[in-house]
Amino acid sequence: MLTAVTGAADHVRRNRAAWDRLAAEYAGPGARMWAQAEPVWGIWNVAEAEAAVLPADLAGRDSIELGCGTGYVSAWLARRGARSAGLDNSAGQLATARRLQDRFGLRFPLVHASAEQAPFAAASFDLAISEYGASIWCDPYAWIPEAARLLRPGGQLIFLVNSVLLMLAVPDEDGQPATERMVRPYFGMHRFEGPGDEPVEFHLGHGDMIRLLRGCGLEVEDLIELRPAAGAVTRYPFVTLEWARQWPCEEVWKARKTG
Ligand SMILES: C[S@@+](CC[C@H](N)C(=O)[O-])C[C@H]1O[C@@H](n2cnc3c(N)ncnc32)[C@H](O)[C@@H]1O
Repeated sequence: MLTAVTGAADHVRRNRAAWDRLAAEYAGPGARMWAQAEPVWGIWNVAEAEAAVLPADLAGRDSIELGCGTGYVSAWLARRGARSAGLDNSAGQLATARRLQDRFGLRFPLVHASAEQAPFAAASFDLAISEYGASIWCDPYAWIPEAARLLRPGGQLIFLVNSVLLMLAVPDEDGQPATERMVRPYFGMHRFEGPGDEPVEFHLGHGDMIRLLRGCGLEVEDLIELRPAAGAVTRYPFVTLEWARQWPCEEVWKARKTG
């Protein structure tokens, strides 16, 4: 594992400590995702065949996963022929990823750093991807320009996040699922944090996200709103199936570097 531990911003330090604490809890679910022959996405495991998140042809493409955690997305990319690399802010999560590489016999570089300051040369990758990694735990005004820098012209940025609708409807109380009314303002949404040393998340409204992507030379190609199948289950308490069948609780952005 390469170590470049970058990132002194308060949320980067808080989130590093939080994810080092959470790593053990995520090892089992990570192993189950490594074992998936076909990718599934988000908290309801929507099949790749339905969601169409990944580019059709990954063979020989250089990919970087920003906030790779246990590394299963990078493993799926590698199995489809990509030259994968994973970057994460948590040594604990990367230790799990390394163990899973050994268990599944699939090695790719793992880098310990913040996605807001990725230790790679400009234009090193054809694909930058994040599933609930940098996409929600980094400040978008820091990690999206950095992802754009890492991409070659024509390269693609794909990231999965909680939907804007969900973020407006989830109460502050832990464990309470999204309601059917808006519980916080839309305008100005950006940084979300709990008390003390709780991790810090970031979520932008759609207009702000589109302007940010375009300002970084990234043309928006798609916004996929994931809908769980009837009968789908999740281990997360913050949304019910009834809610998520009516309104999107997760969204996947796709943007391409122009020029
Ligand atoms: C929910 S996991 C998602 C990763 C992967 N999809 C998984 O479930 O294993 C969130 C990951 O984002 C990472 N993360 C948080 N802040 C980060 C940062 N500044 N740079 C890179 N990774 C970060 C955490 O360490 C954690 O491993």
